[in-house]
Amino acid sequence: MPRRLLVTHALPYANGPLHLGHMLGYIQSDIWVRAQRMMGSEVYFVAADDAHGTPIMLAAEKAGVSPEAFIATMRASHEADFADFHFSYDNYYTTHSEENRELASLIYTRLRDAGYIARRSIQQLFDPEKLMFLPDRYIKGTCPNCGTHDQYGDNCENCGATYAPTDLINPYSVMSGATPVLRDSEHYFFELGKFESLLRDWFAGKLTHGERVADAGVVAKLMEWLDGGLKDWDISRDAPYFGFPIPDAPGKFFYVWLDAPVGYLASFKALCDRTGLKFDDFLAPDSDAEMHHFIGKDIINFHGLFWPAMLHGAKFRTPTALHVNGYLTVNGAKMSKSRGTFIQARTYLDSGLHPEFLRYYFATMLSDTPVDVDLDLKAFEERVNSHLIGKWVNIASRTAGFVHKFFEGRLAAQFSEEQNELWRVLISHYEGVPALYEGGEFAEAMRRFVLIADLVNGHIAAKAPWVMAKDESQRDELHQVCSFSLAAFRLLAGLLKPVLPATVAAAEQFLAAPIADFDSACATLHNHTIRSFEPLLARIDFKHIEAMVEASKESLGSTPEPTTPKKPAKKENKNMTDNAPTATAESNIIGIDDFSKLDLRVGKVLACEFVDGSDKLLRFELDAGPLGKRQIFSGIRAAYGEPEKLIGRNVVFIANLAPRKMRFGLSEGMILSAGDGGNDLFLLDADQGAKPGATVR
Ligand code: 2FM
Ligand code: ZN
Repeated sequence: MPRRLLVTHALPYANGPLHLGHMLGYIQSDIWVRAQRMMGSEVYFVAADDAHGTPIMLAAEKAGVSPEAFIATMRASHEADFADFHFSYDNYYTTHSEENRELASLIYTRLRDAGYIARRSIQQLFDPEKLMFLPDRYIKGTCPNCGTHDQYGDNCENCGATYAPTDLINPYSVMSGATPVLRDSEHYFFELGKFESLLRDWFAGKLTHGERVADAGVVAKLMEWLDGGLKDWDISRDAPYFGFPIPDAPGKFFYVWLDAPVGYLASFKALCDRTGLKFDDFLAPDSDAEMHHFIGKDIINFHGLFWPAMLHGAKFRTPTALHVNGYLTVNGAKMSKSRGTFIQARTYLDSGLHPEFLRYYFATMLSDTPVDVDLDLKAFEERVNSHLIGKWVNIASRTAGFVHKFFEGRLAAQFSEEQNELWRVLISHYEGVPALYEGGEFAEAMRRFVLIADLVNGHIAAKAPWVMAKDESQRDELHQVCSFSLAAFRLLAGLLKPVLPATVAAAEQFLAAPIADFDSACATLHNHTIRSFEPLLARIDFKHIEAMVEASKESLGSTPEPTTPKKPAKKENKNMTDNAPTATAESNIIGIDDFSKLDLRVGKVLACEFVDGSDKLLRFELDAGPLGKRQIFSGIRAAYGEPEKLIGRNVVFIANLAPRKMRFGLSEGMILSAGDGGNDLFLLDADQGAKPGATVR
């Protein structure tokens, strides 16, 4: 019986585009899944958008669309990114689905009936104008520790102190500016402490036939939390909230983190309903299928404490394993919008970089431990060019032509003795590769790739087929060298297949020899006929990387609502111009419906000033008439060195862009300007008489 695996990765929030930090763990999971399929496992790979919660509700409100419409647009943008990075899902879904509503309600009801849900009243800050309870991040005020203004309700970015929002001096609601008041509200709690012994057993591998459930360091961290005492977990939120209502509790909703992991099951359930697979075969407590979750290290507690306890308490199986990845840094530092290293997945693609190059680079850096991975952009260029083109594709490009020219595309009937010996060495390095994939040791698998490729290239260099080709008496040896090289090229294709699915598919076409599994890549291809060779990959030109960094630089400081799912992030923060050289007139045509989604308004500049810590931004405060006041950060400092001179004039801005939290504060729109950027930027104006807030049509 093949192993049966249900595999998931962390679900991205439906409130913004995917960036390369997301892609690290997601790509890791897709590589693992593809390798498992090549090892003969029956794998179901599912994911979804994480669609609930206050930030999404408010972003939709700001954008002037319903939450349902907002998350649908986001989902389309995420799915387009995943497709273009070659993700091999069996189902991609949303947590805002009927399946998820039913499963979350079922799990809650079972937990409640088994006595694991407590109810009690708590005090929380409430916005008296917006009429809603405020999550910590929506309250700001003066840090009680160091006195810095405008700090969030949970911690101070200046001194690092953590505190309760009620500790803030002069607190205010980020949404309305009103002073929050304390109010009582009844909340529902999951009594995690009742699962201590279950969790200890799960950590110790007692529920997984002795197999460890996570990296030793991860288990140690979980144990530390457990030893520190498990607190009840608040699983309810008060209306207004975008989520699922708690069945027996009017006005109460499940906290987003309650139904998010249930979304794994719901996505799988939808797959089962579509294909006839049996959900219970995978989820029943005695299931012999496996359930693997790929997650980032920031969400270990949810997956290593609450999730197994919830599943067990609701009479489902517990996870087989958590595969935890670290954070992504770029050029050795935290991803930064001002440095242009906070790179969206779509910006990477739009810059002309091959999606599989990123997959390969990540593979060379990944192990099964949650260490941070650095995307060094120079190393990225050099490694991809050297390994994939220099060491791999070149094997075929230097030999396939001779096979067609002299041997009608047919490979030799046998290797030489020397080649038989070398082939055994190659196979000995290749043999351990499936186990390396299984264990998540992708970096080591890629080292094997380089080792094998170097041996093959050494053989080619020693034999110099391009010299042999000039001498008719060496035809047989030429035939063997080229045939051996192409069989080895295919062996390497087998090794790379989980990482480079599309390129290897093209290689399989060229070789006319599909690679179904790791074993079948070991064929020697004697007497086999190949097809003509087309270059499989082009080298990275560093100018594409530079273009990507440039396109990622924060300028106007707002992430647009993705109205065009296929290319949501293209040049999004570049003064609304799209000067991408590849854009054709036709692809730039939009319908009036697209245009009318933009709420363009006139704003009168009330204040305009430099922003401490940014050499690009100006902070504007606009009078937007009936829309109230708007704060907008705009990347035009280079062009407007005397911001005070802008006070009093009119500008044109996008009023329904999702607000964006920046280091300096909330940016609530985007101011339009013409020009190429830098000091070549000119604000748009409206003639005298235009009133603040007037619509621009
Ligand atoms: O941290 C996050 O981005 C969450 N949206 C991950 C959810 S994973 C799962 F539990 F749904
Ligand atoms: Zn402070």
